[in-house]
Amino acid sequence: MTTPSEPATDLGLFDAVVNLCKRRGFVFPSAEIYGGIRSTYDYGPLGALMLRNIREAWWRAMIQERDDVVALEAAILTNPKVWEASGHLATFTDPLVDCRNCKERWREDEIEGTCPKCGSSDLTEARPFNLMFKTFVGPVEEESSVAYLRPETAQGMFVNYLNIETTMRRKPPFGIAQLGRAFRNEITPGNFVFRTREFEMMELEFFVPPADSPRWQQYWCEERLSWYKRYGIAPEKLRLRPHDPEELSHYSSGTTDVEFAFPWGWGELEGIANRTDFDLRAHQQHSGTSLEHFDQATGERYLPHVVEPAAGATRAMMAFLLAAYDEDEIGGERRVVLRLHPKIAPYQVAVLPLSKKDTLSPLARDVLHRLQRHFMCEYDETQSIGRRYRRQDEIGTPYCVTVDFDSLEDAQVTVRERDSTDQTRLAIDELVSHLLGRLDI
Ligand code: GAP
Repeated sequence: MTTPSEPATDLGLFDAVVNLCKRRGFVFPSAEIYGGIRSTYDYGPLGALMLRNIREAWWRAMIQERDDVVALEAAILTNPKVWEASGHLATFTDPLVDCRNCKERWREDEIEGTCPKCGSSDLTEARPFNLMFKTFVGPVEEESSVAYLRPETAQGMFVNYLNIETTMRRKPPFGIAQLGRAFRNEITPGNFVFRTREFEMMELEFFVPPADSPRWQQYWCEERLSWYKRYGIAPEKLRLRPHDPEELSHYSSGTTDVEFAFPWGWGELEGIANRTDFDLRAHQQHSGTSLEHFDQATGERYLPHVVEPAAGATRAMMAFLLAAYDEDEIGGERRVVLRLHPKIAPYQVAVLPLSKKDTLSPLARDVLHRLQRHFMCEYDETQSIGRRYRRQDEIGTPYCVTVDFDSLEDAQVTVRERDSTDQTRLAIDELVSHLLGRLDI
């Protein structure tokens, strides 16, 4: 287990990243023209690209590069019996207290006996508050039409276990992975997109023979930790932390979190839980359908155990941004640079004609079209070239390609690298293979 020392708090970094996200089109407060809605965010053009890249990087590691995991996209609304069986209706709660003085509501475990807003210690007894959003299916709002927005994607995989085992001819160990929106009526959302009421999850349910679950949990802890490193987070900003017994979710016999050194301290990026046979057993009981696996080799029947790496895509985005943010000096001038991994950065390449003149545009657009077949590109022809480089540095674009007047003569362009700012002159015909070699990591 890695146990780096406590991170220094760096709230200046937090403010700088939140500010950059708004200013450069990564994240906007939702429906801002109406004053927003508390702790709900819209992902702008750059945020949408970055989120998509995070999903893609996860999909690649969890599905594409393996032969023991299959994909699923289950519905967000489902039969409410699912949430009864899973234990979410009874136990997916946080302890809620009211301040009798200012009427604000808090999570009891997040305050120390006094209201953070007014300082009063006149608080109600804690009572369980269920985090699931309730709605009604169909035109009649009655008890029999109640449904819930999913608070995790996991249950979609448990209730499809039998379908998938049969149709995909699988036997444990094998996994089902899916990503998608989840909803929790958090009492105190906050810290920007760290804790929101609507967020995106990336979950794997890995079904194994019961005796093998400790080994697979260890395996997935190492795999998931190395995924964050592979995509550019420094090892000293990550650690694995096993849960204390009193922290465990109702379904878990043991969970280890991958944590990131957020500006306010260590925080969870992902939990790797041993869910035992809790879920399959519960759905078997509630549905009356056997979910046992029949092992033809041994003649044994058993309920597989489940190891679950469950990550937040939106939270991961925040960690990638915080880890990548840097300020340095180029030619005596301060610059902000996002040192994002090329596969995570919103754009991989920016095409910048040196001047806006019509003489350069056709060639610059031709270069753009060649690159767009392989990379997400931005085309920018406004302002000085220096300012345009700074703009790209600030949004993490790894390469800028500059088309100048010499390019018309020699069919070459200048490629500038974000981190070193080194510039190389290159034939346009070699550009795609040159960049593919550097970006297809
Ligand atoms: N199925 C297991 C499960 O739901 P979880 O630890 O509650 O586990 C998994 O959630 C991950 O989802 C967390 O590690 C975190 O990254 C993300 N997450 C959970 N609640 C969140 C919230 N309110 N806002 C943003 N991300 C959240």
